[in-house]
Amino acid sequence: MPPVIVTARLELRALRQADRDEFVRMHTVSREHFALWTPTGMMERAPEELFEENLQRAAEEAQSGAGVRLGGFLRESGRLAGLFTLGQIFRGPFCSCYAGWRVSVDCVGQGLCTEGMRAVLDLAFAPAPGGLGLHRVQANVIPENVASVRVAEKLGLRREGLALRYLHIGGAWRDHVMFAMTVEEWGGSAER
Ligand SMILES: CC(C)(COP(=O)(O)OP(=O)(O)OC[C@H]1O[C@@H](n2cnc3c(N)ncnc32)[C@H](O)[C@@H]1OP(=O)(O)O)[C@@H](O)C(=O)NCCC(=O)NCCS
Repeated sequence: MPPVIVTARLELRALRQADRDEFVRMHTVSREHFALWTPTGMMERAPEELFEENLQRAAEEAQSGAGVRLGGFLRESGRLAGLFTLGQIFRGPFCSCYAGWRVSVDCVGQGLCTEGMRAVLDLAFAPAPGGLGLHRVQANVIPENVASVRVAEKLGLRREGLALRYLHIGGAWRDHVMFAMTVEEWGGSAER
């Protein structure tokens, strides 16, 4: 089970059954906002179905150590503001994972994604048992997704190049800017 992480405005924690209504609300209001930047077909699915899948995958990943999925809840209101993930965690000489982020349309433009992801990067890089002890975190972003590119830049992730036709997103194979950071570059969230 991932830890509960508290930032200035967010409580980051694993989703549970009681979060169903908030998850459905966030995905209903954000349907168009997410559609262009999420895997093809995802936003055509019922939010209730996405929620059940999310819970199941989170449980499997917690068991295998392959990923961490956190809901970012506004401390003030309890509303679900966003989802933050570390997926495809590989150990051994790679010791790496992929980061993902998504913020509800009613919460964007307030720095919440950056705030949540800074804490998630702390979790990724901190040594065990408090953190995951990873060496590298990667994130891939469509260049036209300027808000997400900006988040990657604010987090201090480094551009490694452009992967052509990398993922099928919003109905087409889309090029992605590959961002990454290794633990040697991570000064901790307090410094950013
Ligand atoms: C991308 C996303 C997570 C950003 O969430 P957020 O909470 O608004 O992010 P932040 O407020 O931390 O940072 C956003 C930055 O982008 C900037 N930005 C947003 N829209 C912009 C635009 N159209 N042009 C230029 N900059 C823009 C903001 O000004 C801010 O930068 P600043 O702090 O330097 O001013 C959110 O819009 C989202 O969920 N989008 C849909 C799903 C998605 O794209 N997920 C990521 C896939 S890689």
